[in-house]
Amino acid sequence: MKLLVVGSGGREHAIAKKLLESQGVEQVFVAPGNDGMTLDGLDLVNIGISEHSRLIKFAKENDIAWSFIGPDDALAAGIVDDFNQAGLKAFGPSRLAAELEWSKDFAKEIMVKYGVPTAAYGTFSDFEEAKAYIEKQGAPIVVKADGLALGKGVVVAETVEQAVEAAHDMLLDNKFGDSGARVVIEEFLDGEEFSLFAFVNGDKFYILPTAQDHKRAYDGDKGPNTGGMGAYAPVPHLPKSVVVQSVETIIKPVLKGMIAEGRPYLGVLYAGLILTADGPKVIEFNSRFGDPETQIILPRLTSDFAQNITDILDKKEPTITWLDEGVTLGVVVASEGYPLDYEKGLPLPEKTDGDIITYYAGAKFAENSRALLSNGGRVYMLVTTADTVSAAQEKIYDQLKKQDTTGLFYRTDIGSKAVK
Ligand code: AMP
Ligand code: GLY
Repeated sequence: MKLLVVGSGGREHAIAKKLLESQGVEQVFVAPGNDGMTLDGLDLVNIGISEHSRLIKFAKENDIAWSFIGPDDALAAGIVDDFNQAGLKAFGPSRLAAELEWSKDFAKEIMVKYGVPTAAYGTFSDFEEAKAYIEKQGAPIVVKADGLALGKGVVVAETVEQAVEAAHDMLLDNKFGDSGARVVIEEFLDGEEFSLFAFVNGDKFYILPTAQDHKRAYDGDKGPNTGGMGAYAPVPHLPKSVVVQSVETIIKPVLKGMIAEGRPYLGVLYAGLILTADGPKVIEFNSRFGDPETQIILPRLTSDFAQNITDILDKKEPTITWLDEGVTLGVVVASEGYPLDYEKGLPLPEKTDGDIITYYAGAKFAENSRALLSNGGRVYMLVTTADTVSAAQEKIYDQLKKQDTTGLFYRTDIGSKAVK
């Protein structure tokens, strides 16, 4: 069987690598992918994620059994609908089901309607009304651009002034373009954050190990929000009962709600949660796998990934098994300056072997050689599995110290919350 993965980052590297390791998979294509993936035997296809008709043509001509869609913007653009209309199978939600991610207001409406615990909120397109709401609620308070903003359209404001400024930036100064034409303003939730993922088809779902991302750029959760600088799974200090409660109060009702709304969900559902004093509450839903969480979750899958997804697509009961010991931890290496401006074209260290995996995100071969150069904000990620978080940290950070990371940076405290 031949498969296609759509996307180009570390997440897609991890998905494609795991699919290629599955029995009965002869070839995995990634469109457009990045050159680093070819070191793992993946085949790149030079077609962009928004070129649906070219992707469809490629899938048909190459006998692709099904495609796995990585990025949120492709899903929001209706790539799955287009594939399905062309008679092709794709693992990911339809445009209407993906609205859970591409409109925070829609996600909130669904949560309220189906009783899913989340922060109290208001949605505004008028600045004066937003300002009045902020002043009435007081701080801390959270201001979010309604649409997709690469994880950067959220301001956790400690003061009323900061919140008003954020609303001003989004509604009047168009800082996030159309994504910020409406804002969701919500109650600040206090507690530990974690991510819960599920493979879903309609009302059937299969929960993945819990994960914790590190969204801020620098150590100690300082600096600007990024796509994610490192992660680990499972979260060892999170009681199993919290997962059970999250499934009952969050995953089940939202999937039921999506069916009732005529938007049955297919694909990976990603719930960003905060464990508050009143139990787990939703910060956001994403309609896809997380990046970098995928890179630390999928290495823990011990069953046949391609077979699992085939079964879920066919509405058959999959046999999904996970490593039930130890922790998988990964640290992202990014270009200095990320998430703002950064240089490209810096030489990258050799790919690791053995039990440290290198997943590439922004990597490209030099013009005349197969030397890899940096080509993006997040460049690569090292991932390993060990008995404990601190043992995994030691392995990764020892390896990173041996690498020449000139012009690049990484956080030195990934997983430290779990160690204390
Ligand atoms: P999001 O893009 O919605 O995941 O938000 C980015 C980050 O902002 C989250 O990972 C949280 O750390 C924080 N955040 C978002 N919403 C809230 C909230 N209601 N209360 C506290 N923190 C929040
Ligand atoms: N790791 C955060 C995200 O994928 O949105």
